[in-house]
Amino acid sequence: MCGIVGFTGKQNAAPILLEGLKKLEYRGYDSAGIAVCKDGVISVSKVSGRIANLCEKTENGANMPGHSGIGHTRWATHGAPTDINAHPHMSCDGRFSIVHNGIIENYLELREELTAKGYAFRSQTDTEVIVHLLEMYYDGDLKSAVMKTTSRLEGSYAIGVLCADCPGTIMAVREASPLILGIGVGENFFASDVTALVAYTRNAIYLDDGEFAELTPERITVYDCTGTVIQKPVSRITWSVEAAEKGGYEHFMLKEIMEQPRAVKSALAPRIQNDQIQLDDFSFTKEDLRGIKKIVVTACGSAYYAGCAGKYAIEKLCHIPVDVQLASELRYGEPQIDSGTLLIVLSQSGETADTIAAMKECQSLGARVLAIVNVVGSTIAKLVDNTLYTWAGPEIAVATTKGYTTQLSVLYLFAVYAAHTMELLSQQEYLRLIRELQSIPQKIQQTLDMNITLPQLAKKYNTGHSMFYIGRNTDYAAALEGALKMKEISYIHAEAYAAGELKHGTIALIDEGQSVIALCCNRHIAEKTMNNIVEVKARGAQVLALAVKGDRAVLAQADDVIYIPGLDPLFQSVAEIIPLQLLAYYAAKENGCDIDKPKNLEKSVTVE
Ligand code: G6P
Repeated sequence: MCGIVGFTGKQNAAPILLEGLKKLEYRGYDSAGIAVCKDGVISVSKVSGRIANLCEKTENGANMPGHSGIGHTRWATHGAPTDINAHPHMSCDGRFSIVHNGIIENYLELREELTAKGYAFRSQTDTEVIVHLLEMYYDGDLKSAVMKTTSRLEGSYAIGVLCADCPGTIMAVREASPLILGIGVGENFFASDVTALVAYTRNAIYLDDGEFAELTPERITVYDCTGTVIQKPVSRITWSVEAAEKGGYEHFMLKEIMEQPRAVKSALAPRIQNDQIQLDDFSFTKEDLRGIKKIVVTACGSAYYAGCAGKYAIEKLCHIPVDVQLASELRYGEPQIDSGTLLIVLSQSGETADTIAAMKECQSLGARVLAIVNVVGSTIAKLVDNTLYTWAGPEIAVATTKGYTTQLSVLYLFAVYAAHTMELLSQQEYLRLIRELQSIPQKIQQTLDMNITLPQLAKKYNTGHSMFYIGRNTDYAAALEGALKMKEISYIHAEAYAAGELKHGTIALIDEGQSVIALCCNRHIAEKTMNNIVEVKARGAQVLALAVKGDRAVLAQADDVIYIPGLDPLFQSVAEIIPLQLLAYYAAKENGCDIDKPKNLEKSVTVE
């Protein structure tokens, strides 16, 4: 997740900006940069890689004098992690420099408009449109240029602005991306989280969405979106630096679970414009798509389970058979793959050794490849022609959460896009599915808000023995990932079974007090799983069911019910995994496990 800092005061800005950026390193980044203003001239220094490189380049800030400045750590989304794509970005006339955190959803439109007007783009970022808009709207009034610019932006943004005409002034703008102002004595600051501020001040103003602020060494003025001055309360920062890094959450995993509405929105919203799905960096034509005879999805771990869940949507909407294969198996198998195969590779890190090997094997057999990865510029992304990034931001906890839900969301998006392009959907159905996709972030948020009893349920169902997860169809796919989460972080033996398979063996394992998590969210098939609940209950199991809000029938069968909001059954897995992530989290917490770094596991398995 990108990080922003800003400073204005009497001291040299650069060393303070560098210190602030170091405090934001924990958020993950792949490039960094600072800009300072001195005597009406802005100088910029930026590097790909570590902040240590930036310190070296700027001699710890000593070779960049100036008393006001902005800084940034970038986690690449739009454009590879290169020096040019790193922030700050400069306007063509050198008057403005900006840093940005978030995603500008309408950047393609704006980029076209600005290019036609003669503004030369240097980077591949969505951010650069902001600095050119500022230049275009500036007529000597910085505040008005900022307001006109933000009125054109759609998406989420925290922006820091430096203007050569106003030395000593820095501007901060917030819309759906955090930005905090730090109040000093004869100096003021902003930062995307309090970690970067606590060394200098504990007095802060939290900007709300739509607000912006002008900071000088002596004063902070906050405006609402109409430009009217507003009075904001000053808050006292009481967090320790440790707690601040996790955004106040006890673990990165919990923070990342809670981030999912925003992460999924980042993956979906920029690709749905004016009721149309637009897939950046996916070059398949209608004929190409119609020529696909088979889709093979390959991945490892949770990414493999995302493929299992996405398969249903692709097969149903695109009428193409989908074979989901573990990369570690595919690479040593005899894959029936040729030029009529589309291989979809899923990987959060883009570096998993088995996934890369399976992909290369399939490429050598003639398959065309679509990669869905999170880390921009990763090995997988570099090796394929078509990459859709998940734009989830860095994931720090070893067990993936937002990595999985964003992969799945992009698979859904692909399914609807491909079906529409192949003319398999009526206009009405296409629009309905788009609305469903657009509702996913909100449904995830509602799921998070609804289930406050999960810590108690985790305690009740964590009996020290195995847990069985059962479900059918999309519920089964979610059960696979739910059981994996439980195993990975709580070390409880957990297995997922297709509910219909129970009577073919597994039911022999059901005894008094056995915990069974029954997923009954897919309305087409939930009734069948309810029969399985009756079967396991008859043998003494305690059953925690997952169902769609309003489903009262399940209450009569299960001991406890977790409700989630309804989605089209094809997309239901993305919401139903949320309580299962939390169930695993609370069980692990109860077991005293090292949740962010489970024993024996690695975040990125780069060797076989
Ligand atoms: C490791 C991680 C899992 C992840 C898997 C695949 O096992 O602990 O959370 O699902 O690798 O990683 P990838 O980066 O390829 O998605």
